[in-house]
Amino acid sequence: MSKITASITAVGGYVPEDKLTNFDLEKIVETNDEWIRTRTGIEERRILKGPGKGSSDMAVPAVQEILRKKNLDPKDIDCLICATVTPDMVFPATANIICDKIGATNAWGYDLSAACSGFLFALTTGASYIESGRYKKVIVVGVDKMSAIIDYTDRATCIIFGDGAGAVLLEPATDGTGIQDSILRTDGSGRDYLHMKAGGSVKPATVETVMAREHFAYQEGQTVFKFAVKGMADVSAELLERNGITGDDISWLVPHQANLRIIDATANRMGLPKEKVMINIQRYGNTTAATLPLCLWDWEKQLKKGDNIVLAAFGGGFTWGATLVKWGYDS
Ligand code: UT7
Repeated sequence: MSKITASITAVGGYVPEDKLTNFDLEKIVETNDEWIRTRTGIEERRILKGPGKGSSDMAVPAVQEILRKKNLDPKDIDCLICATVTPDMVFPATANIICDKIGATNAWGYDLSAACSGFLFALTTGASYIESGRYKKVIVVGVDKMSAIIDYTDRATCIIFGDGAGAVLLEPATDGTGIQDSILRTDGSGRDYLHMKAGGSVKPATVETVMAREHFAYQEGQTVFKFAVKGMADVSAELLERNGITGDDISWLVPHQANLRIIDATANRMGLPKEKVMINIQRYGNTTAATLPLCLWDWEKQLKKGDNIVLAAFGGGFTWGATLVKWGYDS
């Protein structure tokens, strides 16, 4: 019997309509379009506006797109994993809320917190449920409403983040397509450089923590940058080597969209020309767990069955990793 692999069989995505451009940011903090573009590659980001709207409101249309494309009854979904650091609430899990809103009444699910590597970690986890033979339809969502935790007085951090959601459907395949290999890493000592100071069990919310602006993402950008360049490039090169392939065998690199300079460093290390690298950072900025599925969503029409693609990410935690995927279908 041929081995069961977890193939990506559909992609969905959602970005809010409202745009926050570099020129808009010039009016909020002391910055300028030229600095942001040359240092990060970003021109604009999307922002989810409106009272009572959270991450699930972006994840739901992304998942519904998959249901529509596959003509799928939500009751057929076995499991939904939601990668996010901006859940609708601390609990219950946003995965539960998404399942409720789409009518996936037979599914179980949970949230996975690995910041910008969340989608990769969730993809590998979801794939193992399929590979085991236990589940047939697993949805993996990457979503973040970063605007909810960004301090728009911190010019070094607020310029990179935006809101968005992406999702994929994993199904069993016996034709060799799907998730081939993953190298995933964490290093908790990196927590000092990218974290939220208050709101967890160590420092619950008080008037003081709010006044001290401790419920926003805190980032020491330069340090994170150095770790990200090394982490993402090293792990991507290691993945190629472990699978006995080179950049020539790769059709696409799907890198986390945090900074164009980090993306370029990873592509160079893998020996990949720019034409093989998915880059949409200029339009969405860094949407944390949503960057990778939003790339797949934007490039879906260009992907062909059998294409080798490498997804790579680095984020808070620190967390990082790379996954080799053989694409499952012609769009
Ligand atoms: O996705 C999760 C993981 N996160 C990342 O991978 C992000 C990694 N880090 C980065 O992408 C970059 O560090 C940032 C884009 C966040 C910041 O860029 P940088 O080149 O590292 O800037 P910096 O913080 O080292 O600041 C350099 C200079 C400073 O001025 P001086 O001290 O040299 O005079 C800053 O005050 O640029 C100044 N600066 C700005 N100037 C205009 C910082 N932010 C801005 C700004 N506009 N928005």
